[in-house]
Amino acid sequence: MSLRPLTLVTGASSGIGAALAEVFANNGHDLALVARRASQLNGLADRLAREGRKRPLVVVADLLQPNAGDVIDAELKRNGYEVQYLVNNAGIGAYGYAADMAPDVRQSIIGLNVKAPTALTLRWIDPIVRHRGGILNVASTAAFFPRPGMAMYHATKAYMLSLSEALHNELANDGVRVCALCPGPVLTEFFSSAGTTPSIFPSFLYRSPERVAREGYDGLMAGRTIVIPGFANKVLCQLPRLLPRGIVQRLLAPRAIDSEKNKSISREGSSP
Ligand SMILES: NC(=O)c1ccc[n+]([C@@H]2O[C@H](COP(=O)([O-])OP(=O)(O)OC[C@H]3O[C@@H](n4cnc5c(N)ncnc54)[C@H](OP(=O)(O)O)[C@@H]3O)[C@@H](O)[C@H]2O)c1
Repeated sequence: MSLRPLTLVTGASSGIGAALAEVFANNGHDLALVARRASQLNGLADRLAREGRKRPLVVVADLLQPNAGDVIDAELKRNGYEVQYLVNNAGIGAYGYAADMAPDVRQSIIGLNVKAPTALTLRWIDPIVRHRGGILNVASTAAFFPRPGMAMYHATKAYMLSLSEALHNELANDGVRVCALCPGPVLTEFFSSAGTTPSIFPSFLYRSPERVAREGYDGLMAGRTIVIPGFANKVLCQLPRLLPRGIVQRLLAPRAIDSEKNKSISREGSSP
């Protein structure tokens, strides 16, 4: 039996992932929405259906579980689908020095931001190539800055940026698009989940989830390698290429401010 192609969006229960799902739906894609919170996923699926789009398939899965890929794959096949476009959006951050972080938090950041998207990408490369589809990896402007106070998160996003750029070239001859979407700050649940606030960012860096999602979709479909929404964010991300690494590191060095959250860390910071 031939399977129908769809777009699978991880972390579609809120924020940028929900906005991305909507943009793909608006452009006629059949969708699978993946995250842990069934009620949010079903709420989005119901709304899209009410508004005249095809109701997405809802797949409740915890991407930190080793069998997550198998669970999702089985659900797709049961419904007659396979992946054409993969949107690796689910991600978490945590504020604090890496050495002070609980081991399970460190594992979760690497597990969700690096291991899961890598595993899902490689699992579905064949159908993605067969359908000449694409992969949209949600990285971050954090990918460009090795920032103390959120070292783990930034390093995972740098990995996703590097992976995306390399896969973009590896898969170009197969007609597959690969794009890293690198938003600056976006007001979502991300900041509260990460135990920090977005207040340190100047307002001109912000973009809405909807705008970020639209630019990500357009960039992917246009065959772009990297999309950085917003002019100021684009300029910021050029700095590490223009300045010597030592200067960039000094600019990013933590300021001596007591954090209310973690008194053992005498610095403050937050990252998109
Ligand atoms: N907000 C920003 O300023 C910003 C800027 C740049 C990049 N980003 C990136 O954008 C992506 C989306 O973040 P967001 O800002 O939209 O934050 P968000 O609203 O907190 O969304 C995170 C999503 O990841 C899902 N998720 C978390 N843990 C999961 C797990 N174990 N298994 C499956 N799904 C899981 C969450 O769903 P459940 O809780 O239902 O599982 C949720 O849908 C992330 O990769 C983030 O790093 C965010």
